[in-house]
Amino acid sequence: MENTSALQLVRETDDFVASLIAQMDLAEKIGQMCQIDVAGEALSEELKARLSAGEVGSIINQVDVELVNEIQRVAVEESRLGIPLLIGRDVIHGFKTVLPIPIGQAASWNRDLVEAGARISALEAARAGVNWTFAPMLDIARDPRWGRVAESFGEDPFLASMLGAAMVSGFQGQSLRDNGSIAACAKHFAGYGAAESGRDYATTNIPENELRNVYLQPFHAAVTAGAATVMTSFGDLNGIPCTANGFLLRQILREEWGFSGFVVSDWDSVFHLKVHGLTADDAGSALEAAQAGVDMEMASTTYKQYLAQLVEQGKLSESVIDQAVARILRLKLALGLFENPYTEPEALPAYGNRQALDVARQTARESIVMLKNAETLLPLSANTLRSIAVVGPLADAPYEQLGTWIFDGDSALSVTPLEAIRRRVGPEVEVNFFQAMATSRDRNTDAFEAVAEAAGQSDVVLMFLGEESILSGEAHCRADINLPGAQAELVRKLKAAGKPIIAVILAGRPLTLTNVIDEIDALLFAWHPGTMGGEAISDLLFGDFSPSGKLPVSFPRHVGQVPIYYNHKNSGKPPSDDAIVHIDDIDANATQTSLGMTAFHLDEGFRPLFPFGFGLSYADFVYANLSCDKQQVRLGETLRISAEVSNQGSCKAIETVQLYIRDLVGNVTRPVRELKGFRRIELEPGQTETVTFDLHTDDLAFFGRDQQRVIEAGEFRVWIGGSSEAELETGFSLID
Ligand code: NOJ
Repeated sequence: MENTSALQLVRETDDFVASLIAQMDLAEKIGQMCQIDVAGEALSEELKARLSAGEVGSIINQVDVELVNEIQRVAVEESRLGIPLLIGRDVIHGFKTVLPIPIGQAASWNRDLVEAGARISALEAARAGVNWTFAPMLDIARDPRWGRVAESFGEDPFLASMLGAAMVSGFQGQSLRDNGSIAACAKHFAGYGAAESGRDYATTNIPENELRNVYLQPFHAAVTAGAATVMTSFGDLNGIPCTANGFLLRQILREEWGFSGFVVSDWDSVFHLKVHGLTADDAGSALEAAQAGVDMEMASTTYKQYLAQLVEQGKLSESVIDQAVARILRLKLALGLFENPYTEPEALPAYGNRQALDVARQTARESIVMLKNAETLLPLSANTLRSIAVVGPLADAPYEQLGTWIFDGDSALSVTPLEAIRRRVGPEVEVNFFQAMATSRDRNTDAFEAVAEAAGQSDVVLMFLGEESILSGEAHCRADINLPGAQAELVRKLKAAGKPIIAVILAGRPLTLTNVIDEIDALLFAWHPGTMGGEAISDLLFGDFSPSGKLPVSFPRHVGQVPIYYNHKNSGKPPSDDAIVHIDDIDANATQTSLGMTAFHLDEGFRPLFPFGFGLSYADFVYANLSCDKQQVRLGETLRISAEVSNQGSCKAIETVQLYIRDLVGNVTRPVRELKGFRRIELEPGQTETVTFDLHTDDLAFFGRDQQRVIEAGEFRVWIGGSSEAELETGFSLID
């Protein structure tokens, strides 16, 4: 019954779309393939003329709902065919209510929460008339210099796939037709995060096998989860810019994955094809992009200017255009825009409502990673403290805690850490605030002496350090990823004052903390935590909840180690802790030998400062009794892998239990570890739980030498634990 009606719907959709296309002239078809920027525009006569001529398929960057409705009205009522518009907007980590930046959300390892966050973002954005967002960003990010690591889910394809799919579901809801559902866009297809030297927009060179086994995985997951659209990357991938890359857009996306949604370029990225040196002129760029499979051009106007001429000259088949238009119309139909193109804001929940703030607070709480807690300094007890010094440029900066690319975020909703701490401890505890620096980049140390002297009078010093929002995000890359400005010096000055230092770092990327980590007694890494960041930080500082975040990305000791990620290959000369030589231990006039040498740096070794998956808790989780239900598994079978996890601490807490495997031999070399599962459990003190993962042999597949998916017989190692350095190990073999 259900199948019959689904089929009928497809048929009706196809009939409707085909009949509409049959009525369209070439200019109207091309109009559907054009997205224009209307930021800050009133409804000018020129815009009206374009809309009523059917020259526009979508607008971007207008969120004044009355204006959006008016723009939509002109398209629907004054154009010949009355085709409604897609209203696009970057809703990356919240709309008015801002959630932690995506890398922070990834640190929660909580699919439900990521989905819930996208849902509240969709509801808020839909209230402004938005029906299409450009998220999730699914680029694997292994270079913390890259500013857009902030928008990513980190370095691991499995985690990014899980969370990306959850975000798509949150935006799109049960049905795109539902009030409050908006279309998602998986971006930036593909490989964008591998930009050379972490410089945004720079070239990417990724071998096909690495592309398939790593970079494409989250996109495949998003397409499988039903993502309505895909955006091309700005990048030049192996010599062919992604916006003209038929291998990616036709072969992989459409032929191999059967993607039926539509592809949009990135901003001006069709125009950029000429700048890349791929085409001689804009007409050539329009041709390359359309032929490669870009259905809609964002911002630049090469489609508007040249597609008709290219068809008339016989260089581009009109069927390419018809297919693109069909895909775009299908989404408009799926969103219910033909029946109901207008937005009734009152029919959707208010901005910053209780539920939205609660989701933002819980996500922020679960995104924070505790990286150090010497002498169990944390949690603080508000009952025994008399005074707290709150120091630093990010303690009371409502806008800076929101993070990158939040055009609509309302910093008036922000609760800052200073505000939340004051509220939490009440009037009994003296809270003294010293900003000490004008911005996180400030190099002026004039105030430091006096701040150290005054802060030193308090029982404890709480420092709020890191990066302002503007230091990460698109085109905001850094070559030096230490704490900026004079922050390290401020830490040293305060440490010298003799009081315990608790640092809370707000930042858009992993930072190198080697130069301050020994001066800091306890460290919470809070990313940019969003609207409710202050409350969430205070929840953890005072032990109302235990920290539970785990790093979705490795933290290097030194920027020179980048890229550093846990799921690297072994190499022929893998390093080990007992076989590294330090630069200071080399004799004068030492002769060179390669014997016994391995893959490490003389000055920094080979380990990160904090590994992927790592994060401390106020509880003490102990892992034991790792076992597989069989030693040998046959193709098509499922292996049950379990371990006991006990909370031997004294407070209730959440732990993310992680499953890693290693495929020891492959027809292409395999990573030293791969995340294959994770489960969040909450344990009371003294409680033990057996956590079981079902690993199907399909989960062992990879792309082999011929770029085909393969599952090979052989030996596998298995680890379960609380980070990618989990030590509890067993193994199994896969037999044919
Ligand atoms: C460029 C960015 O790369 C992309 O992610 C974003 O969606 C568009 N600009 C639109 O703002």
